[in-house]
Amino acid sequence: MIRVENVSHWFGAFRALTDVTLEVPSNEIFGFIGPNGAGKTTTIRMMATLLEPDVGRVLVQGIDVVEHPDEVRKVLGFMPDSFGVYDRITVDEYLEFFAAAHGIVLGQRRRTIEAVIELTELGAVRDRLVQALSKGMKQRLAIARTLLHDPKVLILDEPANGLDPRARIEMRELIEELRRLGKTVMLSSHILTELSDMCTSVAILERGRVVASGSVDTIGRGLRPERGVKIRLLAPPEGVDGLLAKAPNVLSVERDPDGAYAMQYQGGDEALADIVDFAVRERLRIVRVEPDQNDLERIFLEVTKGELQ
Ligand SMILES: Nc1ncnc2c1ncn2[C@@H]1O[C@H](COP(=O)(O)OP(=O)(O)OP(=O)(O)O)[C@@H](O)[C@H]1O
Ligand SMILES: [Mg+2]
Repeated sequence: MIRVENVSHWFGAFRALTDVTLEVPSNEIFGFIGPNGAGKTTTIRMMATLLEPDVGRVLVQGIDVVEHPDEVRKVLGFMPDSFGVYDRITVDEYLEFFAAAHGIVLGQRRRTIEAVIELTELGAVRDRLVQALSKGMKQRLAIARTLLHDPKVLILDEPANGLDPRARIEMRELIEELRRLGKTVMLSSHILTELSDMCTSVAILERGRVVASGSVDTIGRGLRPERGVKIRLLAPPEGVDGLLAKAPNVLSVERDPDGAYAMQYQGGDEALADIVDFAVRERLRIVRVEPDQNDLERIFLEVTKGELQ
């Protein structure tokens, strides 16, 4: 759906991107992750036809962004990382304006705007001034605007930036809904926890280079074979950590200060199911099984080795 092929780019003497190659498959939620200054926005601006790569090429639905930018813009919705300033204009007028700018004919304009307002749940604030909206609502409106021409591909630069936890969850739900509607969504972030639940694939960018890409599972396994899980037990008996250490595939067991048992084990879901099975046969009463650290967070820290800029 989106292909970036061997792209390099310079700002003056500064090399912002080095041989960046990545592929965003159709109908996925693709996470573009990297610390500040990694080159996410630079890459995204190329996809959005706002910047031409010095070397390499970028294709959106097979269309070259440099050769046919107008064609690309028809299939692409782009939400920049800053909103811009719009004085004295209501949410409704704002959408009206952009619908007109997209060339949506008058007869269809109202229906299109209503559909987008419903999808992004902006109905309650439609008569409010844009400048008076909360950050969360502004982000929603920014997404609404990118949806007006019903693009197949959406590129969102830091959509959850500055949102509170509830607004973040709502943003996630909206993005998941867009995927259900058949869209391909690429979003950038340096906040990993919100991406790991949502993204099917990711690319990790650091100092202008892709340091890892693919499905979250594949990247994770490639880096380190062991995984961590926390198991919480109802009334754990004496010496239960020794017992858990005998479960299949378990490498280590440690009791957390909060009473949960943090275990490192080898293998994937199959191995975890065997561990749980073992515990149940040993008559341990499990109340919770959870990954001990966010998988994506772990991948990120490992590939970037803490060199945040
Ligand atoms: N127009 C420009 N002129 C000069 N340097 C630029 C320009 N745009 C970006 N850069 C530099 O290129 C590098 C990559 O910037 P970019 O904005 O793509 O990073 P990012 O990954 O989006 O970071 P952030 O998480 O902070 O948004 C940075 O070092 C930045 O200073
Ligand atoms: Mg950026």
